[in-house]
Amino acid sequence: MKGRKLFSLLQADGVVTLYAEDVETGLPAADDVIIRIDAAPINPSDLALLIASADLATLRTAGTADRPVLEATIPAERRAELAGRVGTPMAVGNEGAGVVIAAGENVTHLIGKTVACLGHAMYAEYIRVPAKACYVLPDGITAVEGAASLVNPLTALAMTDTMRAEGHAALVHTAAASSLGQMLNRICIDDGIPLVNVVRRKEQADLLRSQGAQYVCVSSDEDFSDQLVDALEKTRATIAFDAIGSGALVNQLLDGMETVALRHVSRYSRYGSMTRKTVYVYGCLDDQPIQIQRGFDFSWNVAGWLLPMSQQRKTEAWKRVSQQMKTTFSTRFSTCLSLDDVLVPSNFIQFAQKATGQKFLITPNKPTKN
Ligand SMILES: NC(=O)c1ccc[n+]([C@@H]2O[C@H](COP(=O)([O-])OP(=O)(O)OC[C@H]3O[C@@H](n4cnc5c(N)ncnc54)[C@H](OP(=O)(O)O)[C@@H]3O)[C@@H](O)[C@H]2O)c1
Repeated sequence: MKGRKLFSLLQADGVVTLYAEDVETGLPAADDVIIRIDAAPINPSDLALLIASADLATLRTAGTADRPVLEATIPAERRAELAGRVGTPMAVGNEGAGVVIAAGENVTHLIGKTVACLGHAMYAEYIRVPAKACYVLPDGITAVEGAASLVNPLTALAMTDTMRAEGHAALVHTAAASSLGQMLNRICIDDGIPLVNVVRRKEQADLLRSQGAQYVCVSSDEDFSDQLVDALEKTRATIAFDAIGSGALVNQLLDGMETVALRHVSRYSRYGSMTRKTVYVYGCLDDQPIQIQRGFDFSWNVAGWLLPMSQQRKTEAWKRVSQQMKTTFSTRFSTCLSLDDVLVPSNFIQFAQKATGQKFLITPNKPTKN
């Protein structure tokens, strides 16, 4: 099956080029399926592959009307970290959903099913994947409803798994009005987990409160430290998941946790409270350095965190996600784009904002609107 697929190619001169190209899926092997992709979200991790660290001010169109191309330039100081992808076209789109239109002899039962899929390049009209990469959507769930049913749902559930596995009973989440944050808020409400939501604007706090959030702290408020300590005192959260990954916030979270922990020690120790405090940095919404100014004890750690879920746990989690896809695990999309729409600079600038309530969806098999 031949269909268009989106690629991002970084050249040695630092120019990143986005284009769509016809690709032949080939025939499905015995355990493969061919999916017609109907919907695939643009998640922050997709943006990182699409445009890398290119300067958005350099976005420009190239190519022809028949074969539009979008280009941008990576600043010289950011090129070394991307050396591994120079010259290799990268297919993009970490998740999405569509209909199985052909299948190998062992998996013909999937023909006609609407499935979600994770970890394959989904910004394409058609893809060929192993059947085991497919998650069959329940009857009555459309591809649009199932398009974002894997990355953020599994990640949010994995956060609560990590929280429990490491012996915590409450958690903190930053950039908490994100799609993932709103989902985590619903999970925590459903599961009775105290959640401290940290956002950067009052409107985001209002949004989360309107969705039932009990603890919301606004990092741009003058009394943010007091709000945070108050919420940490009430929840006793000692683990945080930080999507921003820059600036002073990680430090403020650890400081707040230690302030609360010290209130509850039975006697003074020069080593601090000895309460283990953890911040997992799981996103890169800002690429400035994380500033740690040690004012706390020795019982803390800051580490990266990337969906640590076994296949068995994914299968279990999927059962829950698929039953609550229209409620707890739903994602609202603000805009649908065709593959060619993605290559329009004004569209690109909009979805690259990663703004609250502005989750974009690519619908590769719908005609362009621009
Ligand atoms: N490690 C993993 O396994 C994993 C898996 C899935 C997702 N993630 C990460 O999860 C995060 C959320 O993803 P999503 O799809 O839910 O995102 P999203 O819906 O696009 O929302 C992004 C949110 O981040 C806020 N934001 C953007 N830049 C910010 C900054 N510099 N400082 C503070 N807030 C900022 C936005 O608020 P404004 O409106 O104020 O801009 C918005 O609320 C992303 O960082 C993503 O990479 C990680």
